[in-house]
Amino acid sequence: MIQVQNLSKHFSVRNPQKGNFSLLKNFVSRDSRILKAVDDVSFKVNRGEIVGYLGPNGAGKSTTIKMLTGLLVPTSGHLEVNGFVPWKSRQAYVSRIGAVFGQRSTLWWDLPVIESLELLQFIYKIPSATFKQNLEHFTKILGLDEFLNSPARSLSLGQRMRADLCAALLHNPDLLFLDEPTIGLDVVAKERIREFILHINATQETTVVLTTHDLADVQKLCKRAMIIDHGKLLFDGALETLQTRFGGLRQLVVDFALPYADLEVEGANLVSRDGNRAVYAFSREQLSASELIRRLSERFSIQDISVLEPDIEATIRLIYEQNLLGAT
Ligand SMILES: Nc1ncnc2c1ncn2[C@@H]1O[C@H](COP(=O)(O)OP(=O)(O)OP(=O)(O)O)[C@@H](O)[C@H]1O
Ligand SMILES: [Mg+2]
Repeated sequence: MIQVQNLSKHFSVRNPQKGNFSLLKNFVSRDSRILKAVDDVSFKVNRGEIVGYLGPNGAGKSTTIKMLTGLLVPTSGHLEVNGFVPWKSRQAYVSRIGAVFGQRSTLWWDLPVIESLELLQFIYKIPSATFKQNLEHFTKILGLDEFLNSPARSLSLGQRMRADLCAALLHNPDLLFLDEPTIGLDVVAKERIREFILHINATQETTVVLTTHDLADVQKLCKRAMIIDHGKLLFDGALETLQTRFGGLRQLVVDFALPYADLEVEGANLVSRDGNRAVYAFSREQLSASELIRRLSERFSIQDISVLEPDIEATIRLIYEQNLLGAT
C-alpha cells in the first residue's frame, strides 16, 4: 500500500549570523547549509495497519507526512502509495487519501462547518448517497450536531479536530494520515478521537499513519511503531518489541492474605510494601510473571495479584534521552 525507498528531503537553511546587525545579516546572508530533515528512509505499510510515527521535535515526522500526502516533493528516493506517486498526481491522489494536520484546519474558517463539508463533497465529487450516509454516521459518532452550523473559527480545538476528521473521511479514503490529531485536546476528547480512528480502521480497513507526542495514542491505536530522529529511521517494528528491548522493569503487585515479616523472593526486587501489599520489580528476560507468582505462592498465601507492564512513555523517553537507538 505504502512503499518508501531511500526517501530524503533536504532543506537549504541559512546559518544564523552573529554579532552586530545579526538580523540584517541573516536577511542578506548567503551562508547556508543543507538540513537533512528526512534522510534515506525506507519502509512499507500494508493495508489496514495503524502505524505510529514517533520522534522528538524536529525529527522529520511532519516532513515525511507532507511527502506522503504530496504536499512536498522529495529531494531523492522513491515513494509510491496505492500505485500513485503522490506529488506527481496530486489531484487524483488526494481524492483517495484523507489527511488531518492537528496544527492546521482544512475547513474554511468563515464558513459554517456543514458548508465546508458540502464544498468538499463537490471538490471530491462524492456521490450524494455516500455523502449523506457518511455525514450522518460521522455526525453521530463524533457528536458534530452541536456545531455543524457554526463557523469553523468559533469552534473549540476539540470540536475543530472532530470536524476535520469528518472532513478527511467523507470520501471513504483507503488511507488516513494524521499529524498530531490529539494535540492540545483534553483526555475525553482524545479518547473520542482514538475510538473513532479505531472504528474507521475496523469497519473500513482504513490504513492509518499517525504522528503524535502522546504515547497513550500509540498504546491504544498502534501495534507497530516507527521512530525517527534527525531524519533517520531508527526503529521499525512491533510496539511490544520496543517494550521488551528497551522497556524498564515489569512490576508485580501482590496482596498477601497475612502480614508476613520477610517478603523477599529470588529473582525479583521488593520495591515497596504497605500493610499486606507488596510491589516487586522484575525483568522480563530473567523471570516470567507466572514463575514469580509460583515462587511467591509456594511460600505465602496470596489474595490478589496484578502485573504492571513498563510504561511506554518511560520507554520512549529513555530511548530519546539516552540515544539508545544510536542517532548521530
Ligand atoms: N520548509 C522548511 N524549510 C527549512 N527547514 C524545514 C522546513 N520544514 C521543516 N524543516 C526542518 O526540518 C526538520 C524536521 O521538521 P519536521 O517538521 O518534519 O519535524 P517533526 O518531527 O514534525 O517535529 P515536531 O514534533 O516538532 O512536529 C526540522 O529541523 C525543521 O526545522
Ligand atoms: Mg511535526
